[in-house]
Amino acid sequence: MPDLQPQDEPDLDAGSEGCPFLQFDGPTPYEDYVHASLLGSLQRPLTNDPNEPAFLVTTQVMELWFHLIVHEWRTARDAFAKDDFDAALDALARSCRSHRALNGCWAPIAALTPAQFNGFRAAFGNASGFQSTSYRHLEFLLGDKSRSMVNAHRGDPAVHAELEQALSSPSLYDEVLGYLQRRGLPVPEQVLRRDLTLGYRPDPGVEEAWRLVYAGPQHDPLVRLAELLTEVAELVLRWRGDHVLATRRAMGARSGSGGTAGLAWLEKRSVRPVFPELWTARSHA
Ligand code: HEM
Repeated sequence: MPDLQPQDEPDLDAGSEGCPFLQFDGPTPYEDYVHASLLGSLQRPLTNDPNEPAFLVTTQVMELWFHLIVHEWRTARDAFAKDDFDAALDALARSCRSHRALNGCWAPIAALTPAQFNGFRAAFGNASGFQSTSYRHLEFLLGDKSRSMVNAHRGDPAVHAELEQALSSPSLYDEVLGYLQRRGLPVPEQVLRRDLTLGYRPDPGVEEAWRLVYAGPQHDPLVRLAELLTEVAELVLRWRGDHVLATRRAMGARSGSGGTAGLAWLEKRSVRPVFPELWTARSHA
């Protein structure tokens, strides 16, 4: 390694060539763009418990990722509706990268003990991720629709209206299936004309469509689409699985702050299918 002499060190002082701008009339452009102070001001723990800040920040950061992934899945859905395959795949690929980052967010709170969780749990009362509207938008985009999940937000008219709209809009998967049909695959008509407000149910005709995709050339762009959707599904299942594990570690089988039975309820929810025929079609490859 070459010896670095003090005189060789780059001069980072203000005023020297190549140094950053250090003076601004008012907030920095960074602050104007990122709103870092606003973000910081939103972390308001309710206790002095040393574990609560990590819990709150983790939840808030996950909410930001939820919002971004909702945006990407809507972008992909709308692009499929317009037969813009490349834009749809780009959005799906971006959503996978964001979802991987979302899944990495569990680390700070994955190993809370019941004693540590109880140190601040009572302070947030009946608050629960169960009430997250962005999470419901994510589920609806996957095709996992539920009217009762919308009704839970009646008390907040703007949020309720947005969820109502999402309930009756095509999901990402609906638009993928419409696209496959326009590309000549045998997606049954009744699947495309189903009542969109109901949760998606697996269909043998759709399974056959995916089987045909995988039976064709492996470099076909539709195989790339199938694999990206499978990646999305896997990332969703992994997030749910890590949520169940964190919950089991932090509170065992106690009931949830949102009013459910807790772990048993979450375990059942965590295995709800995501793009079901993409998994079952694999048995017929
Ligand atoms: C140790 C930490 C956590 C525990 C013990 C926990 C526990 C629970 C429990 C028991 C439920 C069931 C609903 C209820 O009765 O409250 C639930 C639901 C939920 N939680 Fe968490 N949670 C934790 C962290 C998080 C974080 C960081 C998020 C991120 C936003 C989150 C998001 C959700 C969501 C979206 C649901 C609804 C799931 C569904 O509808 O299938 N949770 N959680």
